[in-house]
Amino acid sequence: MSGTPLNLVVLGLTGDLSRRLLLPALVRLHMEGRLPPLRLLGFGAEAWGEEEVRERLGAFIAQRPELDPRAWAEVRGWIRYRQAAISPQGLAPLRGLEGPALFYLALPPRLFPKAATALGRLGLARERTGWRRIAVEKPFGQDLASAQRLNRVLHRHFREEQVLRMDHFLGKRAVENLLALRRHNPSLEALWGRAGVAYVEITYAETLGLEGRAAYYEGTGALRDMLQNHLLQLLALVAMDPPARLEALSLRAAKAEALRALEAASPKAAARGQYQGYGEEPGVRPGSRTETFAALRLFSTAPRWQGVPFYLRSGKRLSGAFGHVALAFHPGPRGAGGRLLLRLKPEVGLALALQGEAGEEVLEFRLGPEPEFGAYEEILLAALEGDLTHFPSEVEVEEAWRVVEPVLQAWRRGRPEVYPQGSPGPEAQHRLLLPGHRWLEGG
Ligand code: BG6
Repeated sequence: MSGTPLNLVVLGLTGDLSRRLLLPALVRLHMEGRLPPLRLLGFGAEAWGEEEVRERLGAFIAQRPELDPRAWAEVRGWIRYRQAAISPQGLAPLRGLEGPALFYLALPPRLFPKAATALGRLGLARERTGWRRIAVEKPFGQDLASAQRLNRVLHRHFREEQVLRMDHFLGKRAVENLLALRRHNPSLEALWGRAGVAYVEITYAETLGLEGRAAYYEGTGALRDMLQNHLLQLLALVAMDPPARLEALSLRAAKAEALRALEAASPKAAARGQYQGYGEEPGVRPGSRTETFAALRLFSTAPRWQGVPFYLRSGKRLSGAFGHVALAFHPGPRGAGGRLLLRLKPEVGLALALQGEAGEEVLEFRLGPEPEFGAYEEILLAALEGDLTHFPSEVEVEEAWRVVEPVLQAWRRGRPEVYPQGSPGPEAQHRLLLPGHRWLEGG
């Protein structure tokens, strides 16, 4: 029913995620006139009054000059707040909630099962007066078993189509670009696979470090933080057989199939590193073996990709902030091949490098930089609109855990190689490349 306000129920409204991402994204979307009429029902651990919550959130918004204070003034008026435990008693005020609702879990992951159960027990997953969805922030589990457990708990009350697993990379412009490229250039499909491609490289390099997130990152590391979710999603979008229709369920099925076809990663084809000085970061255990850099070499059993390595890597405090998906073509008689490059950052774009008379010739198409948090905004809007194309399915998430699991196990022992801050990362990353293959540096 148009005009019925949508209920955005935020569990954890007073937490870090809400003030750092959720509220700013809402203000931005409102500035752009993209939000439907909303009621924002917040619950949190803090014993603050409603006005105090608005004030405190406002103080964070005020630190972001790009956010229009007039838009914030309107958004703050939508906010209702209650201190509550994440339990059926705590969330009881929601009983009988009418109309469509998105339940957004801006909570520490250990509370996800409790939250889903409490909402379910209160009958809030039932779609009597409007659709109901639950949005779960990362990390979605710590390994395969915990992800399966979380999926089971969610599915006790919510159908798969009601569960939105947030992966902001799926809101990046480069992902839209990749989908469009494959969709609108069917001729590329003949080359897209072992026939044309020698290897695929997916890199996401950051110059940032921990940014005060030690409490989260220490138990996580680069393999869980970046590769299991974001980079394997990119891989799935590259490796999948393009669905006949670009509709959510077909796209999800195609990605799931691509992930299912991946062989589990071998610890021998994995590399990890830790930047020098990581152990002295506030909140980090001395002697921590958490990796701040991870790289994998993966193979698919799909006929299209047989024998083609997929190289994935991501790390923090590296020499540059750049991200790309590169499809390296088979080398010609000169020993060099061309490549197709999809850039994620610093600019979104596409480059085609081919071997010409004078050596490598590069065609560049630049779409410009992605706005900060732009991808997160897209995902939040997709969650409010219930556009499932932007959310990985249960099978995708579990398959991705299956792929990384042997390396997670192996990395419980030993230590990551230390690399200097501002360097290209550990030497070990080069050892997993097959002869003639290389990582592309720079943006
Ligand atoms: C997040 C990770 O999911 O993605 C961060 O938790 C990482 O550690 C970030 O820095 C990178 O994404 P973006 O879009 O901010 O470059």
